[in-house]
Amino acid sequence: MKSKVDQKNFDVNFARRQFPFFKLDQSKQWSFFDNAGGTFACSSVVDKLTRFYQANKVQPYGDNALAAAAGEQMDTGRSVISELLGVPKETLTLGPSTTQNINTLSIACMAFLKMGDEIIVSEQDHEANIGAWERVAQKTGATLHFWRINAEDGELELAQFEKLLNKRTKIVCVTHSSNIIGTVNPIQEIIRLGHNFGAKVIIDGVSYAPHRWPDISSAEPDAYCFSTYKTFGTHLGIMYIAPDFMDQLAPQCHFFNIDNPWARLDAAGPDHALIAALSGIGDFFQTLYDHHFGYSDESLNHKASKVSSIMNQHELSLCKILIKALNQLPLRIIGKSSIKGREANISLISSTHSSSLLASLLAKKGIAAKNGHFYAYRVLKALGIDTNDGVLRLSFAHYNSEEDTMRLIDALTTIFR
Ligand SMILES: Cc1ncc(COP(=O)(O)O)c(C=O)c1O
Repeated sequence: MKSKVDQKNFDVNFARRQFPFFKLDQSKQWSFFDNAGGTFACSSVVDKLTRFYQANKVQPYGDNALAAAAGEQMDTGRSVISELLGVPKETLTLGPSTTQNINTLSIACMAFLKMGDEIIVSEQDHEANIGAWERVAQKTGATLHFWRINAEDGELELAQFEKLLNKRTKIVCVTHSSNIIGTVNPIQEIIRLGHNFGAKVIIDGVSYAPHRWPDISSAEPDAYCFSTYKTFGTHLGIMYIAPDFMDQLAPQCHFFNIDNPWARLDAAGPDHALIAALSGIGDFFQTLYDHHFGYSDESLNHKASKVSSIMNQHELSLCKILIKALNQLPLRIIGKSSIKGREANISLISSTHSSSLLASLLAKKGIAAKNGHFYAYRVLKALGIDTNDGVLRLSFAHYNSEEDTMRLIDALTTIFR
């Protein structure tokens, strides 16, 4: 079937119609640029969540039809996420957040970590992928090494990483893209280098996944984490664990669940309704795919990848306009001051206005954005930025329009006029 719109062009108005927020009157008052904090949830997710709470909020699974339906919806939620990612359902642990998932994973790694082993964490990471490993290193006697960022621009350099790797390296933890710096890191190369020394490589995809749907099977990490409340869904963390890595981990579940790989790192499952509603993310990508590309019997994983590619082009084209305007203002962009190699997520500071003042002035003009360290405390420290006031962060999602972007640029220009 012929596609309904030019495949290169992303139909932002159609995308906005998939979100209940944009049907509310209050949405007209706001241009939302705190997407890195969490995106809006799409209608298909909200509808499923509401339906579960209305009709199936019972202990799931069992002979009675109410419980059976609740269990089926949860199973569908898990299956759809596995289809979207193109990985077996058994490799996915669903937890309340990525911070909780990585914390559990780090504790499970105590099964094999011992004195003399080494763990590498990147200084560019969110605290979720640093603090847990620091605590586990202290408990096991393993040595924690920091892959330091370049103190000028916050970037990670592969040459520095290579200097840290050796046969004692057991674990490498690095972000796919930092929620402050915004550069997309070459995870395929990082994983390859880590694997050369037999290390397990754990990727934090929380900041990346909202901009590009993760391609886990090509990258072949040992673990990959992201959070569905930032990918248009309910508030959960998804953690992929490669089967051979899972075999080395200490189970964190009840003994009778040990044979369920998806339950092994799940001491207490998250809210059932949140799991059930995840299937709405699949419907969302399917709807956008059908609209932009027409019918196809390709896998959901392939469809999510194609849709997220045009979403990404749309976001980047808007972010490019923003960066051009920012470069004319007395502001310092943290990280690259061009769009190349970046995701549409910009952090900045000003020498004349505090970041908190900028956030509040923008709020008065209908721009939702925040300031702070966003839990990337170590990044700000290394760059010499005040961690209390932090940076002003302007982060796009695919549903941001050109009008939103111009409104943001006008607001910033007025502040500095
Ligand atoms: C890059 C990055 N990693 C990890 C996290 C933690 O995710 P969660 O809130 O699901 O614990 C965040 C949250 O903002 C993040 O931006």
